[in-house]
Amino acid sequence: MIDTVGGTGLRRKDFLSVLDLSADGLVRLLDVASRLKSERARSVRGPASTALAGRHVATCFQKPSLRTRSTFEIAVRELGGDVLQVPPESFDGAREPLADVARNLERWVHALILRTFAQDKAAAVAAVAARLHVVNALTDEEHPCQALADFLTLRERWGGWQGRALAYVGDGNNVAASLTHAAALLGVSIRLATPEGYELPARVIATARTASDNADIRCTHDPEEAVSGAHAVYTDVWASMGQEAEADRRRRAFRPYQVNRELMQRAAPGALFMHCLPAHRDEEVTAEVLESAASVVFDQAENRLHTQKALLLMLLT
Ligand code: CP
Ligand code: NVA
Repeated sequence: MIDTVGGTGLRRKDFLSVLDLSADGLVRLLDVASRLKSERARSVRGPASTALAGRHVATCFQKPSLRTRSTFEIAVRELGGDVLQVPPESFDGAREPLADVARNLERWVHALILRTFAQDKAAAVAAVAARLHVVNALTDEEHPCQALADFLTLRERWGGWQGRALAYVGDGNNVAASLTHAAALLGVSIRLATPEGYELPARVIATARTASDNADIRCTHDPEEAVSGAHAVYTDVWASMGQEAEADRRRRAFRPYQVNRELMQRAAPGALFMHCLPAHRDEEVTAEVLESAASVVFDQAENRLHTQKALLLMLLT
């Protein structure tokens, strides 16, 4: 295992991947998030409410967002900081090089919350601006902030990780990658069922196994095998943002991977249903399952706020 910077739990100044956290760092982040959540519910204004006083955080979203954008803006404000929205075209390289944009921003703001296409682009921005903390707010390859909220939600419902198994059914995409990274760090068994040609990249599995001795990752093409006995079943859209042109082809390939009542019945009694949202009802999940008592999708959405506040505290204070 790689050491973290000054015992902060973070391996670098940025959060581009769940694997930028150590296992202990991830647990600590979830602990802080739980505390912040409880304080917010009781309207307690603890020391965190001024932690970012006098600091600016920029956001730049090159793809649509409801949850990530809203929760980061609220998070910064509730920590006493200021938010600056940078226009999405600033990072398309047309008006000026990306490296210049990054080196301007680092003179004014402490962090940049960036949603973009290639992970390499977020990494390039982070590499060129030594003083800027760059947070991955979703790339084509990873969605690490989502996984933080997902595992806070699981911990609230499960009480702990011991003996727990999570099934992911659908596209081996950005959400699946970050979920796999977090499961590996926390020692939660994860079973992924994807159609042929849509598997989780081998690189994701390899990096997860390198980062954690407790990684238990199993991949299959059979959704029933993945879900059998699982304590939570997770799915995501079949065509991610940027893949709209492939939607019809994907709809055909993914049809046997719909999470419906029959599939949920294969899971352990009391199994949870999870989705990062937005969801396409009666595509990757039936409306019945999405609206069922098993569904914790709005807990996940709420926990985006608390976990991102904890992340900002870890990065900036
Ligand atoms: N789950 C998620 O990241 O939602 P948004 O795309 O709305 O931010
Ligand atoms: N995989 C989806 C997640 C949306 C939050 C996408 O990238 O569009």
